[in-house]
Amino acid sequence: MINYRLITTLSSELKQNHLITFPGSALLLEKPLRDNPLIAEMTAHAEQGTLADTCFGCEPFARITVVPLDAWQDSLTDSLLDALRPLLATPACNDVLLDCTRIHDTVLAKTLRFLFNQAHRLTDLGLKKSPNHITRLVQINAYCAKSESARLETLFSQQQAIANGMIAARRLADIPSEHCTPQFVVDEAQRLCANFSSLRCEVLDENAIVEQGLGLLHAVGKGSTRPPRLLAIHYDGASSGPVRSYVGKGVTFDTGGLWLKEGAGMYTMKYDMCGAANVLGLMLSIAELGLPVRVMGVLALAENAIGPDAMQPGSVARACNGMTVEINNTDAEGRLVLSDAIAWASQRHPKTRYIIDLATLTGAVVKALGYELSGLMTQDNALRCALTAAGEQSGDEVWSLPLDARLKKQTESAIADLCNTPTNNAAISASAAWLLHHFCPQNIPWAHLDVSGTALWREGGKSVASGRPIPLLMQHLLNDLNAGA
Ligand code: BES
Ligand code: MN
Ligand code: ZN
Repeated sequence: MINYRLITTLSSELKQNHLITFPGSALLLEKPLRDNPLIAEMTAHAEQGTLADTCFGCEPFARITVVPLDAWQDSLTDSLLDALRPLLATPACNDVLLDCTRIHDTVLAKTLRFLFNQAHRLTDLGLKKSPNHITRLVQINAYCAKSESARLETLFSQQQAIANGMIAARRLADIPSEHCTPQFVVDEAQRLCANFSSLRCEVLDENAIVEQGLGLLHAVGKGSTRPPRLLAIHYDGASSGPVRSYVGKGVTFDTGGLWLKEGAGMYTMKYDMCGAANVLGLMLSIAELGLPVRVMGVLALAENAIGPDAMQPGSVARACNGMTVEINNTDAEGRLVLSDAIAWASQRHPKTRYIIDLATLTGAVVKALGYELSGLMTQDNALRCALTAAGEQSGDEVWSLPLDARLKKQTESAIADLCNTPTNNAAISASAAWLLHHFCPQNIPWAHLDVSGTALWREGGKSVASGRPIPLLMQHLLNDLNAGA
């Protein structure tokens, strides 16, 4: 874990830091930098709009980066992060000194999450030989005004906890699916939750799944030699008050089933459990912050495999709320496991304040919204507004797609209550959400987040897990708690 410290005066301990600042900063106007002609030259560059960076001639610092002022205020295009990312790929030293005197709150939150996330790298999985002595970031020092330090202390501790949850989620999602099976996710969740006495795991194995009538989750998982699981993580940070629930799609590998996907992009389907991984990460972040609230995270875990026992197109399965679903497309498995998990969650806590599900549910949401925005589908306007605002505040944004009864035909079946895919290719993401809404009782506000475009982050041309939308959901929860207080 990377630590942080807020400072309001420059002290000599900060030498050998990597100073990240902007032209005109008070930090550059102190001796000896004030008299350094290189600093004057770098400042001039940054004032012209280009980043200036040096590891030489910048004593007492190990490195100085001067980023144009615009970037510190730009919460939309990530220009500060884009500038820092290549520099932090191979850090010059263990300590960063970040100038927080002119930074927009959303940019700061994103920058901190990026920095705290440096505690984990893909090579830490131990699957690749990597140089032993690469310098790692250890400490974030933040320079700020005294009047800001109390407010920033809260922001820093929150972003640190969020980042720690993101790291747990990213790591789990990156582990190849041969290893990362439904039972493995359960094992990891139990191991990680054991660090907090406020977290408790409840596991349904394949027998309990059948006994409790989760026929949709069972149908998806039955083709695999790695049986499905339903994992509920309970957080008790308060002894009373409503439970808030999160449900994650945890398809540890999605071959498409008998409706087999084509080979080229299939390797990314080990990430089809990002929703579940992020629910786990969120629960860990909540526990780390010790929030005074009750929360339940439900992970719907199954592998969508091919084989003699795999579910067949045209079969009908029954969910734990009694509804039947015709499975005409075995590749639309996410909505099946989620439907059962949402219904189960609503039965486990009938007075839930809200249920939010998160899932890499459709490729179509990427066509509609791209890689920056998660798709939000809900019929609850209060929840829509709260999630949209929390997205803007955290910089982990959502955009709404329409969801109402005009989609009714998209889920009609001649043989069952519902059909898992429409025969047309219209409104694919919203049609999936329309199916899901049948599994949440009307009295519980419910929202669906399709994170196919955002749960992954492209790093050097390759997809890796991003930990989104943990920041969004934490911000939303914090706001919701403050509103109630
Ligand atoms: N896991 C996929 C969705 C997905 C695709 C996520 C690509 C990320 C990248 C999901 O199970 C799926 O296969 N969805 C189908 C839906 C279709 C059958 C209606 C899709 O998107 O093609
Ligand atoms: Mn699929
Ligand atoms: Zn899937």
